[in-house]
Amino acid sequence: MDQSPASPSPADPSPADPSPADPSPADPSPVPEDAGPTSPDAGPPTPVEPTSERRVAVAFLASTLAALGLAAVYVGGGHPQAEGALLFVALGGLGVGAVQWARLIDDGPVADDRGELAGSDADQDAVEDVVSGDVDVIGRRKLLVRLLLGAVGALGLAALFPIRSLGPSPGSSLERTAWRAGRRLIDGEGRLMRPDTLVVGGTLTVFPEGATRAGDAQVVLVRVRPGLNRPRPGRETWAPEGNLAYSKICTHVGCPVGLYQQDTEELVCPCHQSTFDVLDGARPRFGPATRPLPQLPLAVDAEGYLVAQSDFTEAVGPGYWNRS
Ligand code: FES
Repeated sequence: MDQSPASPSPADPSPADPSPADPSPADPSPVPEDAGPTSPDAGPPTPVEPTSERRVAVAFLASTLAALGLAAVYVGGGHPQAEGALLFVALGGLGVGAVQWARLIDDGPVADDRGELAGSDADQDAVEDVVSGDVDVIGRRKLLVRLLLGAVGALGLAALFPIRSLGPSPGSSLERTAWRAGRRLIDGEGRLMRPDTLVVGGTLTVFPEGATRAGDAQVVLVRVRPGLNRPRPGRETWAPEGNLAYSKICTHVGCPVGLYQQDTEELVCPCHQSTFDVLDGARPRFGPATRPLPQLPLAVDAEGYLVAQSDFTEAVGPGYWNRS
């Protein structure tokens, strides 16, 4: 026995009165209530569940509160574990909220055959329901947008506070070293240097007396044969008995310039092979460094020791100094 509704009854074969299983365009039968939102004509779309939107709102709110908490913890002195947890919630809340929100959006397009243009009273009621429902949705989405902006703004605010961790401005301290007028030169073992401590052609790393740990004050002392040096204007008295002192910090990216080629009178940086002409104010001859090594003006004090005439007259270190 076959009682399928899809089989037309032989007693009632008229095409004007089709069975419910074979609807004709000429007679748009009402869509059964359980047919689902297959098209705009088929009935109102599935309403957005308030609980779904509530989930989005809760996620954004949690993100906002966590970001504000992060800022408060940071201002209060910081706590790495708490900051990590709050950052996790702040970013996670944003992500969860965004994903949940995306799920609320109808991912159409939805298409169907065009039916009758005239609608029944029931259709018009359905349209009204849709419109009034959309108005509610639009109102709620404005709220979600505000919550989203609030969460992003709170996170941005929290991100500003770590700027404080950069510490105080260095001011002009980067342009000064421990060298002062009259400060003696000592070697790594604390021995004072005299003009003849080095033999001609010798080199040594020296430090300011009393400040041997000052990394920016290290100096390469080189002794050249008197008369070979070609001092720049104003530096004629800076190299007593052929003792020339240059900053040990390479002007490329700050490696220690530790090699001296006596035959060519060059200081060489081992990092990228910049070479500096010892007899010409440590002018770069080769390699990426573009700025000479700053020269320390030397003199001999009353007791016969090598001393600085002053601090360096230019900033030591990499060449970004001359890009300001
Ligand atoms: S740091 Fe000296 S050449 Fe690059």
